[in-house]
Amino acid sequence: MRIDIITVLPELLESPLNHSIMKRAQEKGLLEVHLHPLRNFAINKHGQVDDMQYGGGAGMVIMCEPLSKAIEALQSERTYDQIIYLTPDGKNFKQQMANTLSLSTNLLMICGHYKGIDQRIRDLYVTLEISIGDYVLSGGELAAAVLVDSIGRLIPGVLNDETSALTDSHQDGLLAPPVYTRPAEFKNMKVPEVLLNGNFALIEEWRHEQALQRTEERRPDLL
Ligand code: ADE
Repeated sequence: MRIDIITVLPELLESPLNHSIMKRAQEKGLLEVHLHPLRNFAINKHGQVDDMQYGGGAGMVIMCEPLSKAIEALQSERTYDQIIYLTPDGKNFKQQMANTLSLSTNLLMICGHYKGIDQRIRDLYVTLEISIGDYVLSGGELAAAVLVDSIGRLIPGVLNDETSALTDSHQDGLLAPPVYTRPAEFKNMKVPEVLLNGNFALIEEWRHEQALQRTEERRPDLL
């Protein structure tokens, strides 16, 4: 999979993409992430990419021309499954969307900043608008990092233990059950007996019950 990201702050994305699982996915050749600084497409030699909003009001708006130039340059090279704009007024990001997007070949993500991007870019090019939650970030970069991580880890071959993405919280509509490792007793607290006896049918049953109970307690809205 290839992901292109248009951003005014590529530095914000470099670290999350270059460590741990995202790094491994790229080293294995399963994921390519390319950052495109919007300033490379600025309208003048001052590097201008934003301007005051029509109608007045605080906050700058990212201009049409630099974004349009950046998007069209990328579109001339390949076809995108989705052109995604990260925005707090987008559709709430869910595991199911990550699953669907992980089947893509090419994704283009646009990070907004300040008051956002000119509406005409959204109308003309954007095919999917995504919010990662009901709060406002300073820009779309951290949201794009969240998307790349959650999508990238679902690409077959990226995780070492292929089954582990399937047992994540939300993957079957439930929160994940509690997990334990050694020692079997810590500060007088024992690992549940069922996990120690090697009866895998019983263990699966116990995990499912725990997942249900946890979901009922913490996220009844999921049931
Ligand atoms: N940009 C600013 N806030 C955001 C959010 N909650 N989700 C996605 N992009 C954003």
